[in-house]
Amino acid sequence: MITKRYHFEVLNSTNYKAKELAEKGCEAGTLVTADMQNFGVGRRGRSWSSEKGTGIYMSMVLRPNMEIENISMITLLMAMTIAKVLKAYHILPKETPCIKWPNDIVINKKKICGILTELTLCGMEIDYVIVGIGINVSNQVFPEKIKETAGSILSETGMEIEKEELITEIWHVFKEYYQRFLYAKDFSEFREEYESCLLNKNKQVLVLEPTGNYEGIAMGVTDRGELIVNTGTKQKYVSGGEVSVRGIYGYV
Ligand code: BTN
Repeated sequence: MITKRYHFEVLNSTNYKAKELAEKGCEAGTLVTADMQNFGVGRRGRSWSSEKGTGIYMSMVLRPNMEIENISMITLLMAMTIAKVLKAYHILPKETPCIKWPNDIVINKKKICGILTELTLCGMEIDYVIVGIGINVSNQVFPEKIKETAGSILSETGMEIEKEELITEIWHVFKEYYQRFLYAKDFSEFREEYESCLLNKNKQVLVLEPTGNYEGIAMGVTDRGELIVNTGTKQKYVSGGEVSVRGIYGYV
């Protein structure tokens, strides 16, 4: 999966650097990693706390030949990848769900990993996709703003993990899912596995949409990776973008 790797001690953001390389025509499978980021970016314009040495900060350039609307499912596949690797390393027990839809990885109600997928078009076609992953590996303290909801592998499990090993394994596992997805072009064959990792499944959720909020029970995901929410009167299909999904009593 990794065709070329660039490692930096410091970057503003591995996603930015990956974009820069993609603009210069780098190959699909180019991986950018950094020991720290000065300007780590999260979803919905948030920042990603990226201290030196405590986390994995990495971004890969992909050049998938598919419809634009399929790209959100790549993020779901990456969340499944992380879940699988955490279980393979016994960081999480096998049956424990850890994905907060669509792609936060959560242990003990604390977010330990986030994924940011960014798409660049050339005309109406996909030029490249950057999949950026931030994993809190050994953080023990967190900035005030996120300390209630953020955790690390170390803080939540007591385990000290070798970062390089984790990076290699993540891309090894992702490759298999990604190749299957390039062929399938939808989420149907991944649904069952994704749902077995889905923390929100059968739980009450609060959906925050720009047009208004509503509550319901998260039933699972569709063949397009949308969250199915039963409001009692209606079945709603929630897709990423500007929508945020929470537990009714807090983050999960
Ligand atoms: C989220 O908000 O949950 C997504 C966080 C993604 C953070 C990673 S860290 C590596 C890559 N570079 C960035 O600037 N962001 C992503």
